[in-house]
Amino acid sequence: MIAWVSEEAMTTSVSAREMADRLQRGDMRALARAVSMVEDGADGMHELLVACQKNTGHSLRIGVTGAPGAGKSTLVDQMVRWLRQQGKTVAVVAVDPSSLFTGGALLGDRIRMQEVAEDAGVFVRSMASRGARGGVASAVAGVCDVMAASGRDAIVIETVGVGQDEVEVTRLTDVTVLVLVPGMGDDVQSLKAGVMEAADVFAVNKSDREGAERVVAEIIALQGLSDGGQGWVPPVVRTIATTGEGVPELMEVVTQCGELKRARREIKDNKDWTRELRLDHLGVAVKSITSARGFYEMLGMTVTHEETVEHEQVRVAMLSMGESRLELLEPIVEDSVIGRFLAKRGEGLHHVAVKVANVDAAYARLKKNGVCLVSDEVRVGAGGHRYFFVHPTSTGGVLVEVVGEG
Ligand code: CO
Repeated sequence: MIAWVSEEAMTTSVSAREMADRLQRGDMRALARAVSMVEDGADGMHELLVACQKNTGHSLRIGVTGAPGAGKSTLVDQMVRWLRQQGKTVAVVAVDPSSLFTGGALLGDRIRMQEVAEDAGVFVRSMASRGARGGVASAVAGVCDVMAASGRDAIVIETVGVGQDEVEVTRLTDVTVLVLVPGMGDDVQSLKAGVMEAADVFAVNKSDREGAERVVAEIIALQGLSDGGQGWVPPVVRTIATTGEGVPELMEVVTQCGELKRARREIKDNKDWTRELRLDHLGVAVKSITSARGFYEMLGMTVTHEETVEHEQVRVAMLSMGESRLELLEPIVEDSVIGRFLAKRGEGLHHVAVKVANVDAAYARLKKNGVCLVSDEVRVGAGGHRYFFVHPTSTGGVLVEVVGEG
């Protein structure tokens, strides 16, 4: 029960938020514009990315990498087709280090994805990596975030090559598919350090060619040397991209791996909620704010905010003291939460409010662990701040309010 202005609300321009809203509604033109803004490092890009941040968790991010000539583009086309058959919306980012960064789509991709060009469920964008401001990985990260904010179910990031840029890009993905082919002299051992380790799934493409089984055997032999302590042994799938053979099997393991990685990410997000953990305010129930505030003002506190919260039938005065606050609560009518509290217990401490960075994650975690919650959902209070209450039976006898950031 506090008025609260987020950092984001203060720094995000209206236009960035409008753009984020349009993205969220699936507006394709907004998506194209937003991607260009990020590629160009245009004014307002940072604000846009901040505004998008809340809606980026839904998409499964699949990286496809491998040496030139491995058939990645064809394989990506087949993966996109498979995803569309499952009714998923898709975005593709093709990162091409051989072209100069131009800030626009490359002609090659328009031709390449002709078949899906008319399909609104697929959005394709090429990014030339040379000349990208702030490095390839950060440009790709931004582009992926706006694509995710537009609600795409899957984002496929195709990188050409197996260099350092590719290794960095793989850190942005949930699942990285490393594409290998027989007979190209790119023996598994010769791969740049970090590429093998970054792979979650191996696709041995052109697997009808001679030498394919040797590539499979080499990968499996190398896996035997590693500790495999990640709880996921990267499967090896044989594919023939030109015919689509092996693609359903490939996508099945990609999906499995994605679910596993996303579950882990959720645990990490849950941990993140403690980032801003602190005491936000103490709620004190009083018969009259007018008579109670005098003492606190004598101590040097000032009333920073006063308002009547109709749905709680309570009058609220916030007194600030450094980073913490005191919330005086006066009932408007006797038959209200605070009115009944006063009748039963008299004036006194009513609740302790704890601030967390991610109120939804906190709510989910407590609910899952059987904590007795007073609120049946995260509620929106005055000034747009979001909160819920935890029952004293779960907290050692104190009503606890958990307050988040908008
Ligand atoms: Co409160």
